[in-house]
Amino acid sequence: MSRPLVFAHRGGADALPEHTLAAYLRALHEGADGVECDVRLTRDGHLVCVHDRRLDRTSNGRGRVSTKTLAELDALDFGSWHPSSAELEEPLGEHTRLLTLDALLEALRDTGRPVQLLIETKHPSRYGAEVERRLVETLRRHKLADPVPDSPVRVTVMSFAALALRRIRALAPAIPTVYLLEILPPGVSRGRLPFGARIAGPGVGLVRSRPQLIESLRAAGIRTFVWTVNQEADLDLVLAQGADGIITDRPRFVIDRLENA
Ligand code: G3P
Ligand code: CA
Repeated sequence: MSRPLVFAHRGGADALPEHTLAAYLRALHEGADGVECDVRLTRDGHLVCVHDRRLDRTSNGRGRVSTKTLAELDALDFGSWHPSSAELEEPLGEHTRLLTLDALLEALRDTGRPVQLLIETKHPSRYGAEVERRLVETLRRHKLADPVPDSPVRVTVMSFAALALRRIRALAPAIPTVYLLEILPPGVSRGRLPFGARIAGPGVGLVRSRPQLIESLRAAGIRTFVWTVNQEADLDLVLAQGADGIITDRPRFVIDRLENA
């Protein structure tokens, strides 16, 4: 069985503030194969890397991301809330500003190494098709939406919503997609994923409660990326079952385990 891919969830949200350039670059430096990023739309139509609907938890701002302009968000500090800011010898400075998807794609390209980027779109029904439309437009601008054999950056789009996968397939059928799962809809364990998705993304809680899930998906030709695997017992479980990808807040912990297996 080949080694699973290791993805830094939100850039590796344990060691450094999530979705900051500092976190993404550190995770890649530690040896992660790729990173996971949530995207949302600003009021003026920019895709930015933020998980929560509101700014309150991860910045010194208040209110909803979708009601702010990029310039307003750019003035905020997305780093000081995190425990690491009190412990680091050198402040993260510019690297804790808001990241646009454009800036993240450029930074990943500039690493000069192969990187897999998992992009999760949030709330496709609340914001209409605009997120997916802008996402594909951005990826096309970076030459990442259609097959480019020698591109070091490879993008996969993920969603809990079949609707988002349908839109991506219609706009850019070459982009691989992951169907994220918290529960198990009928037919999925037998490989019936919506709209051409070839990868399932179960939460680790679902894998715990369905010990045969990864194996039955594999038998149906479906790969499995499991999130969010941060604990030893969960890592043992997904490694034993042969997951194809591990999405974790603690990439170094997972890589150490794989290297010492
Ligand atoms: O990788 C999937 C995972 O990120 C989904 O959960 O809430 O962390 O976006 P969440
Ligand atoms: Ca996510």
